[in-house]
Amino acid sequence: MTQKKPRVLVSDALSPTAVQIFKDNGCEVDFEPALGKDKDALLAKIADYDGLAIRSATKATEKLIEAATNLKVIGRAGIGVDNVDLKAASRRGIIVMNTPFGNSITTAEHAMSMMMAVARQIPSADASTQAGKWEKSRFMGVELTGKTLGLIGCGNIGAIVADRAIGMRMRVIAYDPFLTEERAQKLGVEKVELDELFPRADFITLHTPLTDSTRNLIDAKALAQMKDGVRIVNCARGGLIVEADLAEALKSGKVAGAGVDVFEVEPATDSPLFGLPNVVCTPHLGAATTEAQENVALQVAEQMSAYLTRGAVTNALNMPSISAEEAPRLTPFVKLAETLGSFVGQVTESAVQQVEILYDGHVAGMNTKALTSAVLAGLMRPQMADINMVSAPVLASERGIKVIEMTQEKAGVFDGYIQLNVISGKTSRSIAGTIFSDGKPRFIQIKGINMEAEAGEHMLYTTNRDLPGIIGKLGSMFGEAGINIANFYLGRTASGGDAISLIELDHEVPKDFLQRLMDAPEIDSAKALEFTI
Ligand code: NAD
Ligand code: MLT
Repeated sequence: MTQKKPRVLVSDALSPTAVQIFKDNGCEVDFEPALGKDKDALLAKIADYDGLAIRSATKATEKLIEAATNLKVIGRAGIGVDNVDLKAASRRGIIVMNTPFGNSITTAEHAMSMMMAVARQIPSADASTQAGKWEKSRFMGVELTGKTLGLIGCGNIGAIVADRAIGMRMRVIAYDPFLTEERAQKLGVEKVELDELFPRADFITLHTPLTDSTRNLIDAKALAQMKDGVRIVNCARGGLIVEADLAEALKSGKVAGAGVDVFEVEPATDSPLFGLPNVVCTPHLGAATTEAQENVALQVAEQMSAYLTRGAVTNALNMPSISAEEAPRLTPFVKLAETLGSFVGQVTESAVQQVEILYDGHVAGMNTKALTSAVLAGLMRPQMADINMVSAPVLASERGIKVIEMTQEKAGVFDGYIQLNVISGKTSRSIAGTIFSDGKPRFIQIKGINMEAEAGEHMLYTTNRDLPGIIGKLGSMFGEAGINIANFYLGRTASGGDAISLIELDHEVPKDFLQRLMDAPEIDSAKALEFTI
């Protein structure tokens, strides 16, 4: 049987390279770049797709995500994902990827161009010259050499700007709460606090994402702390600067010039900044070079198709990365992690407070973040059918479940196992499992009792006192009910102590039979379990 190809919709103007890559990598692709601007048409179609490739015009809102019933991945050909409701996507288990480096050089170059255009008033001088005026004294500029550049945000783009600015003989100071002293030294920048940057900088350039903590970062209060005659460049996001406040500061001369590529509302057809002297505006052109657009289109298409066809995860904002090389080695352990979580999730009937996960031996060196996500997905799936590895950590944290990850060197006979200890109310449940050479999950310990049981699709889990005749009793009950046993696994603490059995059946355990088992005085508890194998 041929497998159905994943379907991808490209709803923004991505380079056609992306379309070819999707096709070459085994996806069906519809290229409809106008859809990103037509919310209703996009909403009507989105349920047909497994992947959505976008730039900034498409707004992946909660409403769109709710309607995207088959969607598995949103790929942003670019950096900023403020047009994607990341929380809504995570809750629905949709991976959101971006292309973090593809357009950084281009955007940094745009910021440098803006800085120079503002320093020498090039756009106004050009317009004046072409209008036949020869206004040499009107366009007196300033040098960059020897000036202090204040970087706000020193990540990928900020670091490239710093490098280029140092090349222009500027002194660079940077405010970024996540910048370490070591990295600052390596970049040749001086790490400062914001209230130090404002009064020292001759030029300020912004390179942070738009988040709740960066929104309106440059407002009237911030502007008042800056040097008189400062020049400001924003090639990051509209919303970082309060445009009305900047306009006032430009009018008063407090700010001598501004280069603005991004606006509070885009497309920006009107802005308080328009028409002011020495404001250079571009229509969100930061990433607009052929090189950058090829890079991000190629990268997003490779990443999305690798995920849709091979399960490899790169540059996801809501899921740990899994490389294509790692995926085959990790996949059986992801299955094991999910199966162990699922076992506990199916036998637990009250709210889980804490999950301790121990990774032993070579598993400890694997991508344990991904494995933990799989444990949580398995654990919570009995209550939430649609949960997956993307949404599980978010939903667990929303429910206040404390997750503790531990690793240790090989401790027992198995080289590489996963052990869970799950606390719900006053009950603590433990289970451990490993992968045998056949690549299948095995339970190796339940409730501290050693056993070796292969996980099957339909299983029955019983607990009882270790007394003579119980296995026979169970066997005859199954026989009388005409239920075929595929595998029977047993374990006990000690002779006459606690005993458990895991019984694999060919079919689902009938409800009336389960009830009869639970009513049998010899059986303490019986639970039907289902696993996706
Ligand atoms: P990045 O994630 O590498 O760097 C962002 C930096 O901002 C990080 O180092 C982070 O620590 C820092 N930061 C976060 N909160 C901060 C705060 N409150 N104050 C100061 N610093 C803070 O991202 P990047 O690749 O450098 O891109 C930066 C932004 O540029 C993107 O988020 C995107 O919105 C924008 N961008 C715009 C264009 C364009 O076309 N104009 C193109 C690409 C990127
Ligand atoms: C980005 O965040 O990468 C930019 O907004 C570039 C873009 O897609 O225009």
